[in-house]
Amino acid sequence: MSKSTVEEGKDSSQKSSITAAMSNTEASTNKDHGVLYMGIDLGTSRTSVAASNGVRVTLSSHVGYPKDVVSRKLLGKDILFGDDALSHRLSCRFYRPLASGVLKLSNNKTDDVEGNMKAAADLIREIIRLAKPRKDELVYAVCGVPAEAAIHHKDAIIKAARESVDSVMLCSEPFSVAYGLDMLDDALVIDIGAGTTDLCRMHGTMPEESDQITTTYAGDYVDNQLSMLLAKKFPQAQFTVQMIKEIKEKHSSIADNMAPILVELPVNGKPTQFDITEEVRTACLSIVKPMVDGLANLIASFDPEFQNRLKNRVLLAGGGSQIKALDLAIEREMHSRLGSGKVFRIEEPVYGGANGALKIAHDMPAEYWEKLK
Ligand SMILES: Nc1ncnc2c1ncn2[C@@H]1O[C@H](COP(=O)(O)OP(=O)(O)O)[C@@H](O)[C@H]1O
Ligand SMILES: [Mg+2]
Repeated sequence: MSKSTVEEGKDSSQKSSITAAMSNTEASTNKDHGVLYMGIDLGTSRTSVAASNGVRVTLSSHVGYPKDVVSRKLLGKDILFGDDALSHRLSCRFYRPLASGVLKLSNNKTDDVEGNMKAAADLIREIIRLAKPRKDELVYAVCGVPAEAAIHHKDAIIKAARESVDSVMLCSEPFSVAYGLDMLDDALVIDIGAGTTDLCRMHGTMPEESDQITTTYAGDYVDNQLSMLLAKKFPQAQFTVQMIKEIKEKHSSIADNMAPILVELPVNGKPTQFDITEEVRTACLSIVKPMVDGLANLIASFDPEFQNRLKNRVLLAGGGSQIKALDLAIEREMHSRLGSGKVFRIEEPVYGGANGALKIAHDMPAEYWEKLK
C-alpha cells in the first residue's frame, strides 16, 4: 500500500485502532539524526525484526538468567537469548515470555509474572540491539503480536517495549501479514505458528474478536502426531519430540509425489534407518481439515455477496506454513467442502509479520506518531 492511501480515507479506522505510545525519555531529546523504523514480530516461538536500515534478524523467543554464581561464571553472561538460552536452560531461570501467545500475566501465585515481564522486556531490548540502531537515532517500532495479545494485553506489552524504543505501536499479527501484502480487504490470513494457528478475516479495518479463530492445530500438534505415529509403527526406535520437530522441519510435505523420507534413529544405541514417508504425510495432513473448518466458519458468517472473494484470497503465513504442498491440500479441501478456494503462500513465512509491521511503520505519517505523545 502506498503512503498516500494510508494517509487518506478508509484506512483511518486502522490507524486509530492500532495501539501506540510514545515514551518521552531524556535520551530521545538528544537523538536528532533521524528515525530508525522497525517492524517486530513478537511470536510465541520466534521473535523477528526487519528494520529500515536493512537489518533483519530472527531469534527464538527464549530468555535465560544464570541460576547462581557458578552458572553465571560458566555461561559468562547475565542473560542468554534464543537457542543459547534453550540449550542452557537447566542452569538458567528459563522463560518463554510469550509462550501461550500472550504475555503470561495471571493471578496464579505460582506464575512468575514479574519474571515474565522482565524477560519480555529483555527480549525486546535484545532484538532491537541486534537491529543495530545508531546512538543518535530515534527508534520507532511497530510490533505485531498474537491476535489475542493485541486485544487483551496491550498495556503490558507496551510497558515491556517502551524502555527500549522512543515510540511503539501494537497491531495484531495477521493484520501486519496482510498489510505487508496489500491484502487488507476481503482476505483470510492463516498464520501457522508453533502453539497456535490463527485464522483471521480481513475486511478493510482492524480485525475484531469475531473475525478471529485460534486453534491448537499448529506446529506442535504436528510434532506430537508424528511422534505418536512413529512410536506406534517403530516401537523399537528411540527419539524425543525435539528430534521429531527437527526431522519435520527438514522433510515436511504432503505433496502427491513425495520422495521417500529416510531417517536414522537409534535402536538400542545403534543408528538405524527408517522410512517415515507416510507418517510425515499423515501428521502434516492432520491440520488441514480443522483449518478448513475454521475457514468455513469465518466465510459462512460473512456477507454472502463477498464470500466468494474471501474464499479466493486465503493467505498462508507463519513457520508452519512451510509444509510442502500445504497450499494445494487446503485448496483441495476447500473445493470439496466450500465449492472453491485459492490459497497464496507468502514469500517469506519467517519475516512476513516483521516485513508487514515495518511497512506499517513506514506508512504512518510523521504527524501521526507525534500525536501519540
Ligand atoms: N520447514 C518447516 N516445515 C514445517 N514446519 C516448520 C518448518 N519450519 C518451521 N516450522 C514450524 O513452524 C512453527 C513455528 O512457526 P513461527 O511462525 O515461527 O511460530 P510463532 O508464531 O508461534 O512464533 C514450529 O512449529 C516449527 O516447527
Ligand atoms: Mg507467529
